[in-house]
Amino acid sequence: NKVVLAYSGGLDTSVIIQWLKENYGCEVIAVCGNVGQDSELEGLEERALKTGASKLYIEDLTDEFVNDYIFPTIKAGAIYEGKYLLGTSFARPIIGKRLVEIAKKEGADAICHGCTGKGNDQVRFELAVKAFDPNMKIIAPWRIWDIKSREDEIEYAEKNNIQIKINKETNYSKDMNLWHLSHEGLDLEDPANEPKYDKILELSKTIENAPDTPTYITLDFEKGIPVSLNGEKLSGVEIIKKLNKIGGENGIGITDMVENRLVGMKSRGVYETPGGTILYQAHKNLEELCLDKETAHYKEMVSLKFADIVYNGQWYTPLREALSAFVDKTQENVTGTIKLKLYKGNIVNAGMTSPYSLYSEEYATFGEDAVYNQKDSAGFINLFGLPLVVNAKMKSKTKGE
Ligand code: ARG
Ligand code: SIN
Repeated sequence: NKVVLAYSGGLDTSVIIQWLKENYGCEVIAVCGNVGQDSELEGLEERALKTGASKLYIEDLTDEFVNDYIFPTIKAGAIYEGKYLLGTSFARPIIGKRLVEIAKKEGADAICHGCTGKGNDQVRFELAVKAFDPNMKIIAPWRIWDIKSREDEIEYAEKNNIQIKINKETNYSKDMNLWHLSHEGLDLEDPANEPKYDKILELSKTIENAPDTPTYITLDFEKGIPVSLNGEKLSGVEIIKKLNKIGGENGIGITDMVENRLVGMKSRGVYETPGGTILYQAHKNLEELCLDKETAHYKEMVSLKFADIVYNGQWYTPLREALSAFVDKTQENVTGTIKLKLYKGNIVNAGMTSPYSLYSEEYATFGEDAVYNQKDSAGFINLFGLPLVVNAKMKSKTKGE
């Protein structure tokens, strides 16, 4: 029998290979979904085989990740609890889907993941597996084994001769992909502590160390999707990579937050999302120009719901698909060019244009115009204010005047 394991090469998944073989007597097929965590992929195959896997799949999911998960979420303007750009949340569904595909191809009996029983990631993986194979058995060792702590785990690794570099005191719980890098644990677990940014940040400079001169960039969007940077047509993956570099250099997109996990508790984390933060801001600016008021306001509600859905791992639900259809309709005219000034963690609007702009200088001007009859406003305000007038009259009557 065979088990397909979501594998990262870290201590957890290395220990799991051995534990699976010991407890199920199975062959372990390791699968690593590449969603842009490039540096972590070096030497991964050798490590997987050395720690007991019978083979390793490294699946390049980067383009699909960007086009089918990241872009729909940008278009939706989805931000969890006003701060989190969902970097881990939408990476789990795509990996989960691939795990099922490989499990089917390999004729595996179960899928295994190394998430703790206290987090969101277990939910996201398992909902994805259920969506594509409702009968697939799922093994979550952290919920069933005797290993209860990092220390137990290291002991188990040493006893079983699993050779893996670990520096247990200094490692945050991190999750890296093309979109973001998250940090949780250690001193961050106490919200009273200021994050030690000098130690934590890997994609970004601290604001203090960002350059004293601004960087200007230009982004072109077509139907809500970024298509070129500084006039150069690029793939989505390339745009995000380049923006990560430019944004990181300028200390953009560093977020420190206490969030509400799906599984009940609050957790504190630091996120680095340099390129993503720029893309969200640019997209939002363009929508200000291109969306009519009613659609824009309605879309704010959709954004909130969309963020919850993504955070909760419900990517493959009918509601997510239906909301995406709504969002795509709103994006038909979100096409144009955005110029931004990046400076010490700030993203400053530096001008924008769109062939579909609804902004009309003719109507908005404080100068004299020929199109807007200011006399119309008097009647409008009378009717618009009528309920207030009625209410005020009622109040003065009942207060016994
Ligand atoms: N709290 C974030 C989320 O739920 C990040 C989780 C990071 N995951 C991890 N295994 N380190 O999306
Ligand atoms: C985990 O529990 O594996 C990481 C944290 C999370 O899933 O939110």
